[in-house]
Amino acid sequence: MTTTRTFAAALIGLAALAMPAAVSAEGPAVEAIEARIDRLLAAMTLAEKLGQLTVESPNAWEFQARVGRGELGNVINAAVAAETRAIAALAARGRHGIPLLLGVDVLQGYRTQFMVPLGQAASFDADLNRRAAEAIAREASAQGVNWTFAPMVDISRDPRWGRVVEGAGEDPWLGSLLARARVEGYRAGGLVTTAKHFAAYGAPVAGLDYATADLSEASLRDLYLPPFQAAIEAGAATIMPALNALNGVPATVNGFLLDDVLRREWGFRGFVVSDWGAIDQLGNHGVEADRAAMARRAFAAGIDMDMASISYVRGFPGEIAAGRVDMAAVDRAVRRVLRVKLEAGLDTRAIPTPAEAEARMLTPETKALAVEVARRGIVLLKNEPALLPLSGMKRLLLVGGIADSPADHVGPHAARWRPEEVVTIRRAVEARAAKAGVAVDYRMGCDPDCRELPGLSAALEGAREADAIVAVFGEPGEISGEAASRADLGLPDRQQALLDALVAAGKPVVLVLVAGRPLVVPRAVEAIPAVLTTWYPGSVGAIALAEILFGDVSPSGRLPMTWPRHVGQIPIAYNALRSGRPASQEKFTSRYVDVDVRPQFAFGHGLSYTTFRYGEPRLDRASAPVGETVEVSVEVTNAGTRPGREVVQLYVRDLLASRVRPERELKGVAAVDLAPGETRRVTIPLPIRTLGFHREDGAYVVEAGRFRLFVGGSSEATASVDLDVEGPDLVKPVRR
Ligand code: NOJ
Repeated sequence: MTTTRTFAAALIGLAALAMPAAVSAEGPAVEAIEARIDRLLAAMTLAEKLGQLTVESPNAWEFQARVGRGELGNVINAAVAAETRAIAALAARGRHGIPLLLGVDVLQGYRTQFMVPLGQAASFDADLNRRAAEAIAREASAQGVNWTFAPMVDISRDPRWGRVVEGAGEDPWLGSLLARARVEGYRAGGLVTTAKHFAAYGAPVAGLDYATADLSEASLRDLYLPPFQAAIEAGAATIMPALNALNGVPATVNGFLLDDVLRREWGFRGFVVSDWGAIDQLGNHGVEADRAAMARRAFAAGIDMDMASISYVRGFPGEIAAGRVDMAAVDRAVRRVLRVKLEAGLDTRAIPTPAEAEARMLTPETKALAVEVARRGIVLLKNEPALLPLSGMKRLLLVGGIADSPADHVGPHAARWRPEEVVTIRRAVEARAAKAGVAVDYRMGCDPDCRELPGLSAALEGAREADAIVAVFGEPGEISGEAASRADLGLPDRQQALLDALVAAGKPVVLVLVAGRPLVVPRAVEAIPAVLTTWYPGSVGAIALAEILFGDVSPSGRLPMTWPRHVGQIPIAYNALRSGRPASQEKFTSRYVDVDVRPQFAFGHGLSYTTFRYGEPRLDRASAPVGETVEVSVEVTNAGTRPGREVVQLYVRDLLASRVRPERELKGVAAVDLAPGETRRVTIPLPIRTLGFHREDGAYVVEAGRFRLFVGGSSEATASVDLDVEGPDLVKPVRR
């Protein structure tokens, strides 16, 4: 791979800067902390205790006075050092000097925006995701932020749901791998982390944000819960419930999720924080009528901390006096909050001055890592006939308002980014093209919203002079993310019309998609030789795009979500359960009469500038019992003329089971960099205990029998080998 000294290094520079030390994961001894909490609980007033069970923004009612009295213990959205220092100084005046949790949503970045999480997931690389989370967290903690409402670990098979941009896609194995990595990274960078949104928020009916989810317990446990458990094992100390209802019970009052699963089965020791206003929203759900009852019910279900409903602070003094809320339960919740603060060592941290904090923003190392993440997250979907990398061109036409719009590079929920700090696609492509002696003619065509086409004739005029066209289209940031479900996943508004006109101009077109989800663009895929998605690339990710377009780097990103060809196929996922009438050319089979049932691009798909050849996969032994790990290996050859990285994927199919099992399931990944002509044997460990599934009673089982293992470059891999799992079956009943 040509990733050592690339164009990015030249544009950014790589001066070394010291990073802040990581926070100890363990903190002071547990007993000492519990003893200190005992003393605090004995000394605190009820108002002080309820303040610990509340998080509010600096705009909240009597904010300063309450913080100063120690009656508001946690803050959301104070995000710069000047502000966090002032608030922390106020809190220090409280009688007990309890540190504040200062929380912000820090998803793809604090000041340096990385590629959005879905794009990071396309690297299929845990270490890269870990390092990105750590760098992001270091920027945030330099500003005094010590808590984040991230990572978002919701699995989703529904790209209509705008929040898929925040997560790791559709697969529970990859989702768990990356949940763990992101939690580790955030923690190493100094942030208390929140795994959200517990659970099945990513499965709303019809892809509509906040709509209800209805799932069997087996599906919930097989698909949606594993990343939460992985996040908790990695040290996520707080959990945020989903805003929607699961099987008729809002997640905010869902005792099955919050008590049975989270605390009893998983032994979660941290605290649960509601989502914004979620306790008050129980009225809209129609499950409680008055605010006191909502607060009571949420608290009883397991919500330790209220975000922005102000319901515990206002309601509980009366509720406790009337005997409707138990003081011992309040103390238990306060203990959980204090434990998280003290175990994270928040009381020993000093917040840097604004100048010190500023010096840690956008460091060369952080920007270089953000470019590296984008190199690995961009997915080349189609290149046929091979138009990329661009070569032999003299004039390039670059079209699309998004290419020159910083806001549409960083994506939704970006924290404290600044437009002038974004290297846009236009800037990056112009800079890289200049090095190759290629002239770039930028014509907007239309602004990012593209409601009208004022620039159509100018763009077509540019096309006449150009050797090739790079068209940058997709979703403006505001139609991705929370409250941005879409029923139509095509190019919005007039973009498709502009694209059609450019294609009709007869010059070779490269389509660069900028979006927070797979887009449904079958016409473009049919008509255009080269299509890639750069998701939302972040502050400097456009540099990686320019490198890929000009061949400095061979793309290696893989789709973490199945890419549909029609919205009617959604929800769609590669790991669908098998059918009694699998799709074929026959009429009475599981297919559509009007649309090809196959996706446009499969989960795990992604091209590079070379091709890879696979040998026959091998197992280190043909059979093994449940407790063991087998090794699957395969020879991979770079059969082309350019270096490239192959992301080797291992899928399994349980050939015969007591319940219907998926077509195939991802169980391992290994990346390999290969020079032209080079062959290497890649080995992927497969712990047999991961081959199981959940029964409807919640038990996890691994059944003896034959499994087919597929190895290759996507979920459509064909090379296979069989493994016999020896009995006895593993049965892990639910622990309650
Ligand atoms: C609502 C979102 O659902 C949640 O993800 C976020 O953490 C909170 N708002 C706070 O910003």
